[in-house]
Amino acid sequence: MKVPESLSLAFGSEFERLISDFINQEKLLPEETSLGSNRFLSRAVIPHILKLSQLYNREDKSQASSLPAYWKDSSNPQNLRLAYFLYFMPCNLFRMASIWAELARLGFQWKPKRLHGIEFGAGPASGLCGIAAGETFASIQAPQSAQWALIEQDQAILELGSRWAQTYTQSLGKLDWGIRTFHRKIDLKRGFLPKSAPVFNLWLMSYYLNELEISPQDLAPLLLDSWQEHLEEEGLVILMEPALRLQSRKILELRKALLIELQKRKRDDFKILLPCLGHQTCGALENPDDWCHEEVTWWRPPYLRKLDSLAGLDRKSLPFSYLVVMRTRRSREEILPALKRMPENQRHRLVSPAHAEGRDLEFFTCGQDGKKRARYRTEQPIQRGDILLGSQLRGDRNASRVEGSPEVIE
Ligand SMILES: C[S@@+](CC[C@H](N)C(=O)[O-])C[C@H]1O[C@@H](n2cnc3c(N)ncnc32)[C@H](O)[C@@H]1O
Repeated sequence: MKVPESLSLAFGSEFERLISDFINQEKLLPEETSLGSNRFLSRAVIPHILKLSQLYNREDKSQASSLPAYWKDSSNPQNLRLAYFLYFMPCNLFRMASIWAELARLGFQWKPKRLHGIEFGAGPASGLCGIAAGETFASIQAPQSAQWALIEQDQAILELGSRWAQTYTQSLGKLDWGIRTFHRKIDLKRGFLPKSAPVFNLWLMSYYLNELEISPQDLAPLLLDSWQEHLEEEGLVILMEPALRLQSRKILELRKALLIELQKRKRDDFKILLPCLGHQTCGALENPDDWCHEEVTWWRPPYLRKLDSLAGLDRKSLPFSYLVVMRTRRSREEILPALKRMPENQRHRLVSPAHAEGRDLEFFTCGQDGKKRARYRTEQPIQRGDILLGSQLRGDRNASRVEGSPEVIE
């Protein structure tokens, strides 16, 4: 997925200064210069980054039950929070902003009177901050004024996140953004929100769903129940999850289950807008070993580059899986004008990198006709996430050729 340059460059030294001042104010560092201290980072931060990475990268379902306890279980909860805040928060912030930028590049415009957002499992408010960055660097003309609710089971990270969100949004000139925190553990037996909760028009879940012990088939009706009650007409839902096979397949299964549930309820007022460009059967799910994810690259904050090198990790490019759902009766082409009313069977998204095969580029595409390995002779550099408009694919799923002269939305 290509993001605007201004967004990929927005996390340089100025952002680093903001983060550094903030963690000093929060007294998360033993002394003012510690963000520059390899010794401190190696001793106090890196071990937590490695532990959390291992936990999040699990490929084993059985560990899901141990996940929600990690804020409490640590021998040094303050440094664990610091590690998450310094390392994982900016990555998820950037991922979320990139999804916003994807809406912007497809011409989406969003003009409710006021933004009324909610973030579930908010942690340090990475999702909210991602929307602020997205709207600043890839605007969809969202309202200036916003009211947010953050829901999180761990009070310390929630309060830290709320203060950070105020600091960060103000640094972007978003002065009319209000934030309320709700310290609670969501119990799915009671649904996501109580009946008395208000309606929202922006609903975020960032790296949260995979921490719930529930199957996609059971989750879909619960989500739809709450959206029917608590999502405004023309409201948006952004669900973002890790790119690993297990979690990514879960979000694909969730999409499938949502489509089945919508049909069962005869509801035509919800659309799964992205990343797929229609309500077609998922091509990746057909093969049990396959999955689907996006990837964005950015200029990491300099301190994060240092953390990467100390930890032996690499967050230069950030993979993730996602869904954008909208409550609307309007057609996808009206909502995403860049699709230009091109017939659904003539638009294909690249769902892999493209590599050269002789004079062709080879890649996997997804569209109405499923997932296909395709070749295309073009001089234009194309990459994962690009959309071919007006493309006709000839051949079978293992060997197709892109014909016509499709326009590329990159
Ligand atoms: C991986 S973190 C993601 C945090 C943040 N959304 C982000 O993208 O950086 C998942 C968060 O969900 C919270 N969480 C998990 N289960 C929860 C529940 N049942 N109720 C409330 N919060 C929950 C965890 O405490 C944790 O802070």
